[in-house]
Amino acid sequence: MLRPYLPSQRPYLTSQRPYLTSLRPYLISTHVNRGVFACPTRPISFPRTMLTKITVVGAGNVGATTAQRLAEKELARTVVLVDVVDGVPQGKALDQWESAPIEGCDTRVIGAANDYGPTAGSEVVVVTAGIARKPGMSRDDLVRTNADIVKQVSQQIKQHCPKAIVVVVSNPLDVMCWVTKQVTGFPRERVIGMAGVLDTARYRSFLAEALDVSVQDIQAMVLGGHGDTMVPLISYTTVSGIPVTQLLDRAKLDKIVDRTRNGGAEIVAFLKTGSAYYAPSSAAVQMVESIALDQKRILPCAAWLDGEFGLSGMYCGVPCKLGKNGLEQIIEVELTGEEKAGLKKSAEAVKQTMAAVTL
Ligand code: APR
Repeated sequence: MLRPYLPSQRPYLTSQRPYLTSLRPYLISTHVNRGVFACPTRPISFPRTMLTKITVVGAGNVGATTAQRLAEKELARTVVLVDVVDGVPQGKALDQWESAPIEGCDTRVIGAANDYGPTAGSEVVVVTAGIARKPGMSRDDLVRTNADIVKQVSQQIKQHCPKAIVVVVSNPLDVMCWVTKQVTGFPRERVIGMAGVLDTARYRSFLAEALDVSVQDIQAMVLGGHGDTMVPLISYTTVSGIPVTQLLDRAKLDKIVDRTRNGGAEIVAFLKTGSAYYAPSSAAVQMVESIALDQKRILPCAAWLDGEFGLSGMYCGVPCKLGKNGLEQIIEVELTGEEKAGLKKSAEAVKQTMAAVTL
């Protein structure tokens, strides 16, 4: 009898065993991942399906860690890692694939250098290609250099993955999203940026630390551009439904907001060379997961604004519903006067950076 692959050796309920019913479910069952009862006391989750292919462009720290997390969650049958440096994507992909028997995941990770052939038909593409700012390089120089890189990458995506949903991670994020949207010509539903999930995760982790509570009980949202002008929404920050303002005084909250704004710089100061990649890759994968599994999660993401929040013509972090169609809805929450002003300032900063780039 054909037996399905059981990714983490967790038991199926008898009624869920796909191989007992027909062959077609057997094929699907190889895509079933952790969609099982782990034990009778755990909540029911439904069998999941995986995508056929996800591409990650840029095999550096963020890209490689993203590929690994995608594979370990079995979000696609194949994950393709692409880079311009020959040997790096192939080596990292092979190393990750060799961990599959230990991790118990069947996603095949493959690497390709300067060849987008293997990416053909990817349903989701995550863009992490770029360079870090070097000594003596102005912010505008960095923007132009990374815009050129993202432009080349976008042309390849347009040609080889014309139906893909693109999750942009390269910085400066909001401007790189715009470059991707312009060059691919994809609608805004299919070009979304990762920043808010990361900024929110940092904010939530600092709050959990200050309150000595589980990170899972902190609900929060950080909007705006990915930079000093980001807007953590204190009015929407709750701890298991309790407004955070009832638990922390304003001075403490302000300190946490400040630390969140400088979250990236704090890591860079420790690492000296290179920047954060564990949390950024987790954030990108959470967005991909919501798309791949059509979870319709409401996550703060960079989206092209067309009048929402009174803003137009730039990418900015706003609450987004992500599902199988990509960006399915922008949720226009009510903001306080201070938060509105913060979002406007953030959007203006994005527009200024856009002005440094000619497409
Ligand atoms: N096509 C594909 N890959 C490219 C290209 C290109 N045209 N140009 C550069 N790359 C690759 C580099 O060879 C390198 O492997 O992008 C990778 C970037 O990796 P790192 O330097 O390790 O940077 P990383 O920390 O991964 O950050 C990548 O994500 O969070 C953002 O600010 C960060 O913009 C940066 C990006």
